[in-house]
Amino acid sequence: MTKSSDTFKGPTTASPLPVPLQALQAEHQLILRVLHYLDAPIEDFATNAQHHVPIIRAYLDFSQHYTDRFHHAKEEEVLFSYFDSRESIITAMQADHVLGRKWIHTATEALIVGDHQTVAMCLRSYRNMLTQHIQTEHAQLFPWIFHRLTHAQIEEIGMRFAAIDTHFQNEKKHFEDWANRLANPDALTR
Ligand SMILES: [Fe+2]
Ligand SMILES: [Fe+2]
Repeated sequence: MTKSSDTFKGPTTASPLPVPLQALQAEHQLILRVLHYLDAPIEDFATNAQHHVPIIRAYLDFSQHYTDRFHHAKEEEVLFSYFDSRESIITAMQADHVLGRKWIHTATEALIVGDHQTVAMCLRSYRNMLTQHIQTEHAQLFPWIFHRLTHAQIEEIGMRFAAIDTHFQNEKKHFEDWANRLANPDALTR
């Protein structure tokens, strides 16, 4: 049973975000940066597909592995496990993850058969949803969480995140390096 005096009271000027949530925020920044660099290829894909196929393929890979298997797994398997899954904010965030998986899966299948309009439509929907989803996590989910976790739980979440970071160490570095290369416009066509 949690003692109320042990409950984390939320961010104030004297108590910034707990470290595990800062880590999720840093991952959000990387995901948003990739979305920003991919805006132009996504919008141009239906009419100029061949030029953009390599970068779109890499983007699908990033979305499946970094965004979903790494980042969303931290949220679903660790963070959300401390709360009732019927809480509306948790249900809404999980529903977004499921929807995102469907769009990325459909885009991947469409790319294989050369249905470029469907690829563009799915990625546009995915980009818009994920941008809104991340804003909601910052504005609503994280503040909601602050007031419900104990210091001990935050510490435990930090350790569980560290284990996931270690497990995905090589993949994480691969995708972070790739995201950094996107800052170079030449990388978009490699
Ligand atoms: Fe999420
Ligand atoms: Fe997230």
